Amino acid sequence: MSMPALNISSARASFLAVVTDDVTRAMMVGIAINNDWGEDQVLEGTAADAAEALAEIPTPERLVIDLSGSADPLADIDALAKVCMADTRVIALGDINDVQLFRHLMDMGVQDYLLKPVSAEDLKAALNRAEEIETATPDDNSQHGRLVAVVGARGGVGASTVSANIAWMMAHEQGLRVALIDLDLYFGTLALALDMEPGLGFREALENPSRIDGLFIERAMVRESENLYILAAEEGLENSFSFDPKALDRLLETLRADFDCVIIDLPRFAARSQISTLIPPASVVVVSDPTLAGMRDTQRLTKLVKTVTPGSDLSVVINRVGNSKNGELTVKDFESGAELSVDHQIPFDVKSAILAEGAGKTVAEIAKTTKMAQSLRGLSRDVSGRLEDVVQVPMWKRLMGRG
Ligand SMILES: Nc1ncnc2c1ncn2[C@@H]1O[C@H](COP(=O)(O)OP(=O)(O)OP(=O)(O)O)[C@@H](O)[C@H]1O
Ligand SMILES: [Mg+2]
Repeated sequence: MSMPALNISSARASFLAVVTDDVTRAMMVGIAINNDWGEDQVLEGTAADAAEALAEIPTPERLVIDLSGSADPLADIDALAKVCMADTRVIALGDINDVQLFRHLMDMGVQDYLLKPVSAEDLKAALNRAEEIETATPDDNSQHGRLVAVVGARGGVGASTVSANIAWMMAHEQGLRVALIDLDLYFGTLALALDMEPGLGFREALENPSRIDGLFIERAMVRESENLYILAAEEGLENSFSFDPKALDRLLETLRADFDCVIIDLPRFAARSQISTLIPPASVVVVSDPTLAGMRDTQRLTKLVKTVTPGSDLSVVINRVGNSKNGELTVKDFESGAELSVDHQIPFDVKSAILAEGAGKTVAEIAKTTKMAQSLRGLSRDVSGRLEDVVQVPMWKRLMGRG
């Protein structure tokens, strides 16, 4: 970057302005103070600087950027569009008076373009207009589906089993609209567990966030039933891919506008980086087995969750309880060793697990009344109970046909 790196906090802000000159900056500071957005949310820099700095963090709800002096304003906006979350409202300032440019910017999703020098009145009016757009389409924000990240403390403890079962129960028993995402593109088992063919294009979308829109979702998701949609892949092991974390953010934002709940089966390698980007309302479900190693890693994971996403609800689940008589920790020992409380225990039930696997159905569906299903049901209700403040009216927007 040509100037000192912009120092932006990584928590999601309600407002950020990045402007190129002192006069505009002073004006923005006044507005920021008046609205209680914090004067430190006004920075000096170009639109390109803003795009670069924002690539690493959640983008603010309102973003003012300055295109003056830019050699290629459209390219700058394009770079910003790639990193901006779906609900960030962008107001651009600039010194080029050109109706073509204005139209292009609007087409790219910029809310307003103000010609410099701007007055404080114009700026306030533009911000108010952006606000009105927000209240005119309340479903974009108030209908914000809950994110549920399920992560195994260790391999094979049953994280995917938990994800599939709670997703199925929330969709079929609780009437919620659920999206289930298998982030393990190579070895994921969710599609298999539900006897479905993964859709196409998930990997490409994770490499290229600009591909993520309604059409992509329609193509890539497979429908298990009216309320349950699955996003998974079965990538060949020879294909390497570079996962763009921004793409996942964008994907989740898009899905949350349409679903009551988005459940992610999160592989452990991705947990460290992804958990920190969970935007509320969110839950993290940590699944472990009752072993010493599981206890240690549950402690480490829950510590991470509490530090990096203190706003998320945390549930600790021990699965496969009663598997081995010796060498298994009691729940009490697990709790005191890991210094936490266990929220749910799921019994080891190899009969139901094998039955479900063989049938390509969840335990929730095929062994409904077993203790294993009942424990999973308790967890699913616990997670969806936290949803109540979000889902008041079932105003489900049809996913398909949204562009
Ligand atoms: N409570 C249970 N009782 C018996 N078997 C179980 C139970 N929970 C899960 N299993 C079985 O354990 C195996 C591993 O489960 P699963 O794939 O859900 O684990 P995972 O944590 O997702 O593993 P990975 O780390 O490979 O992603 C599966 O065969 C599953 O059917
Ligand atoms: Mg798994």
